[in-house]
Amino acid sequence: MKIDVIISANDIKEEKIKGKTVVVIDMLRATSVITTALNNGCKKVIPVLTVEEAKEIAKNSKDSCILGGERNAVKIDGFDFSNSPLDYKKDVAKDKVLIMTTSNGTRAINACINANNILIGAMLNAKAAAKRVVEINNDLVIVNSGTAGEFSMDDFICGGYIIQCIKDYVNVEMTDIAKTSHYIYECNNNVIDFIKGAKHYNRLKELGLEDDLTYCCSKDIISIVPEYKNGCILNGIPKSKVHENK
Ligand code: MLT
Repeated sequence: MKIDVIISANDIKEEKIKGKTVVVIDMLRATSVITTALNNGCKKVIPVLTVEEAKEIAKNSKDSCILGGERNAVKIDGFDFSNSPLDYKKDVAKDKVLIMTTSNGTRAINACINANNILIGAMLNAKAAAKRVVEINNDLVIVNSGTAGEFSMDDFICGGYIIQCIKDYVNVEMTDIAKTSHYIYECNNNVIDFIKGAKHYNRLKELGLEDDLTYCCSKDIISIVPEYKNGCILNGIPKSKVHENK
């Protein structure tokens, strides 16, 4: 299996992802929200680009919808919830459709529509995402959402951890950037310590969101792998067992 890495939503190019499996990562915090909400019984997540689009879908839907997301990491006016994964507990998420717009994560997901499979990854479900990638058995591009179109340390180390988990099952051929992402993870087992220097980590800290930071850095506490298809993200459950390469 070949593995490549894209470093921000602005760097997604059709020729790089076409026909591949992609894992989209925005560990702080969009893909942590999606994974948590679906794990807590949310029916589906609809990731959209604009606030207007989100409100329009909610208005015309027959389902029971909640609006969630952020701009500049802050809850959007008129929305039900913010972009904190801790907002999406069972009592909020169960049987709801979450319509979501965020600055980077939902943008990255929507930019990947030409990939074969679009999986949603975070620290929370890294091992499960790796297993699903191995089951699909296609070349992989890890798409880091990044921050404001730029590289972000948090997504990069998270991708490195997913690569490590994949390497436990199969042999891989990595591009230089994928090797570097994996190397960063290998050298920094304490994820929080590494991402303390990241711009977005500090933005969230400034807003008093330390609990979100701790939660989003928790490894493998969720075993579902959300998958985006035809405008919706559903809870994909790994089907078969794969054997470790150890
Ligand atoms: C995003 O999609 O840009 C983020 O998840 C921002 C945030 O942490 O709220």
